[in-house]
Amino acid sequence: MTSFSSVLAVAALAAGCRTEQTLVTPDPHLERMVDQPKVRPYEADTALPKGMAMQRPPEGAIPFARTAASPVGGATVDGHWTERIPVAVDRTLVQQGRRDFETFCAACHGVLGDGTSAVAPHMQLRRPENLIDADARGYPPGRVFQAVRQGYGLMPSYAVELSERESWGVVAYVRALQIARGTLAARLPADARAELARESP
Ligand code: HEC
Repeated sequence: MTSFSSVLAVAALAAGCRTEQTLVTPDPHLERMVDQPKVRPYEADTALPKGMAMQRPPEGAIPFARTAASPVGGATVDGHWTERIPVAVDRTLVQQGRRDFETFCAACHGVLGDGTSAVAPHMQLRRPENLIDADARGYPPGRVFQAVRQGYGLMPSYAVELSERESWGVVAYVRALQIARGTLAARLPADARAELARESP
């Protein structure tokens, strides 16, 4: 008997903790959304197939956050990082990659990709990576592509902002930044050397 009454007391307390409870008693004539007829996930519902609220998605449905098999070429091939950028890398692609890198990546990774940016000191938990140091130079293109498409740790995904082709453009530009950092000015073609001389302080 004692245990039964204590169960009742707990039940009464639990009922008192209803999250819908408000401090002001609502106007009884207003229809409140919390009181509307509805089924919650995992609840039974005889009106629906198999008597369940949750239904299997229709055949062929694609999750919102994932894309179907890539028409361009994805981050991995047979379970390994893609070693070659699967679209033609020409000046247009790299220039587009530069534009997108400077728009979406440079705020954190820096215009040079070296992890020096205004945002970086505020991301103490995980600093935006230096994308042009020796470690990052060893990343296969697929790994960089994956970071862009799916995000990485604290870094968000850019799959909404960039198409797959544009993402490969960014990967190509990151590669260009890596090569540029490791190249001696003396080995540049004459016109590039002249431009550099004009820009240097
Ligand atoms: C909001 C800041 C931010 C932006 C913008 C951002 N990143 Fe990152 N990125 C990070 C941080 C932070 C990490 C390290 C995350 C971690 O270690 O948890 C990271 C990691 C990476 C890595 C390493 C992934 C690996 O496999 O080790 C790559 C590559 C990368 N970012 C590329 C990019 C590219 C390309 C863009 C633009 C499309 C971009 N990031 C935009 C913050 C950012």
